[in-house]
Amino acid sequence: MPVIKAFDLAYGRLRSPDLDKAEEFLTDFGMVRADRTKTALYMRGTDAPHHIHVTELGEPRYVGIAVHAAGMEDLDRISRVAGASAIEDIDEPGGGRRVRLTDPDGYQVEVVHGMAALEPIPVNRPAVNSGGDKLRRKGELFRIERGPSHIKRFGHFVIMSKNFEKTLGWYREMLGFRCSDEVYEGERSHVVGSFNRLDRGDEYVDHHAFFCIRGEKSGLNHLSFEAADIDDILVGHEHLQGKGYKHMWGLGRHKLGSQFFDYWADPWGRVHEHWADTDVLNARTPPNFVERGPAIAGPWGQPIPEVFRGHASP
Ligand SMILES: [Fe+2]
Repeated sequence: MPVIKAFDLAYGRLRSPDLDKAEEFLTDFGMVRADRTKTALYMRGTDAPHHIHVTELGEPRYVGIAVHAAGMEDLDRISRVAGASAIEDIDEPGGGRRVRLTDPDGYQVEVVHGMAALEPIPVNRPAVNSGGDKLRRKGELFRIERGPSHIKRFGHFVIMSKNFEKTLGWYREMLGFRCSDEVYEGERSHVVGSFNRLDRGDEYVDHHAFFCIRGEKSGLNHLSFEAADIDDILVGHEHLQGKGYKHMWGLGRHKLGSQFFDYWADPWGRVHEHWADTDVLNARTPPNFVERGPAIAGPWGQPIPEVFRGHASP
């Protein structure tokens, strides 16, 4: 039994030497400023959580991630794990309480509860006149505007680890992640990547909240955010391209998880993903084991570039 079952992902926490530049990128990427202090920037999506991305002022670094606990009793439970902090008040915009842990690679994992919720930001997206129902938008003219995507929520994080088994096991044991797909190379025992989702019992959740990659180094491969829909990603792609940001991979459709995706690097090389339209599974779906290679290539889109496959931001 895991120590707790994380209810949802909360936010990713990075460090950057220039908060103006960080805010400019994240705004172009499709987030909205929730708050900013002299030393940190808090960005939100259109869903209710106060923020889904934190940037602390400092030398570029991946600090860690945060998850929402289902209740205070889970905070209490995880605070008793060896090496965990006591339950502490979060002295930051959005408030709430948390327990801090350190993963096997030295990155911080915050388990939070009681963070403020904001009014969701309404996003007006067109219904789609295709497939079995061509009258979803009958009589309506809908013109999508150019500009940034509309980030809805924090969807998943991807860690590369040189302590792959230990790191993967640790996240599963601490946070109750459940295996969706595992990828092996050569011998079946040589697992090179593991997709894991939240465990909310019968409730359907995204195919993965956490993907762990075996690597020569440890660090953040990418943070991933759900956009309003597929068009929203394409519009955002052109916006980011026009601003001259570094494109990492996409556009494409993943095989494992099925998401439509697009990847961009922030000014310090940390990769941020847009996605829409994921498979959703519940706790009854058994794990799947697949071999790396053509069988796991998406139905369209370029293969993963080497520069991104081996990417880990320290
Ligand atoms: Fe991803």
